[in-house]
Amino acid sequence: MKEIRKAVFPVAGLGTRFLPATKASPKEMLPVVDKPLIQYAAEEAEQAGVDQLIFITGRHKRSIEDHFDKAFELEASLEGAGKTELLRIVQNVMPNTVGCVYVRQAEARGLGHAVLCAKGVVGEEPFFVILADDLIRCEDKGVCAQMAAVYARHECSVLSVQEVPHEDTRQYGIVKVEPGPGGSMRVVSIVEKPAPEDAPSNLAVVGRYLLTPRIFDMLEQTDQGAGGEIQLTDGIAALLEYETVIAHSFEGKRYDCGSKLGYLEATVEYGLTHPELGEQFAAYLRAFQH
Ligand code: G1P
Repeated sequence: MKEIRKAVFPVAGLGTRFLPATKASPKEMLPVVDKPLIQYAAEEAEQAGVDQLIFITGRHKRSIEDHFDKAFELEASLEGAGKTELLRIVQNVMPNTVGCVYVRQAEARGLGHAVLCAKGVVGEEPFFVILADDLIRCEDKGVCAQMAAVYARHECSVLSVQEVPHEDTRQYGIVKVEPGPGGSMRVVSIVEKPAPEDAPSNLAVVGRYLLTPRIFDMLEQTDQGAGGEIQLTDGIAALLEYETVIAHSFEGKRYDCGSKLGYLEATVEYGLTHPELGEQFAAYLRAFQH
């Protein structure tokens, strides 16, 4: 069985829901307390055993590359000032064992197209696709590690899913499932952003995919779908004809940080549990409510 060593981060999107904050800087660099969204996503991948991060970038995304690069001047100045704890934080954004690759997606032609841009770098291996604006907080194992465990048992593609209110199906890829091998849920069909009356269920795919390399063959043959874009969902629908795909209902809480409300919720909840700030912030919120 092949290990999952690679994770693809599609980060070329325009982030229009957060304008003007995202006019000149990527939405993936929005911080939740003190870490950008993309770092939470990268840490989750690294904890699942990934050692190559593949970013599908576009214009105005330079700060993501800089974030995962060495920061010579900053490190020298922190060292000079004896600020060792800060120096440690800056140097440990990712362990040295993890490498980064950047692939440029010249046109925003959809999530499926972004994933297809990673074909040459991923090769013949299973890999994660991680959407950094879906921030998922887990008590124990991160969602990617949970999915890797499912892969270890079934050796097939795995989608992370969550129930959403029926009226929200238009925002997600929606799956229909049936009982699968070993008590799992096998995906029978998947459709991108259906109207509630057309949705096969209210089980939505949220921001984590573990895919076999055959998805690339499917995406190469995928035409424009919902919104005129090449949809990853449509590629997965084609994959279902050849391979088993399992839906994993994860343990953890998901924050839709692509929306202002979800982002604020994440900020409050990560703030409340932050080791340095938590108590003070809780006291502030209590005083604020009165
Ligand atoms: C994308 C996918 C969709 C998925 C969602 C999860 O949509 O196309 O299938 O359910 O991410 O967040 P987007 O949110 O980019 O419109």
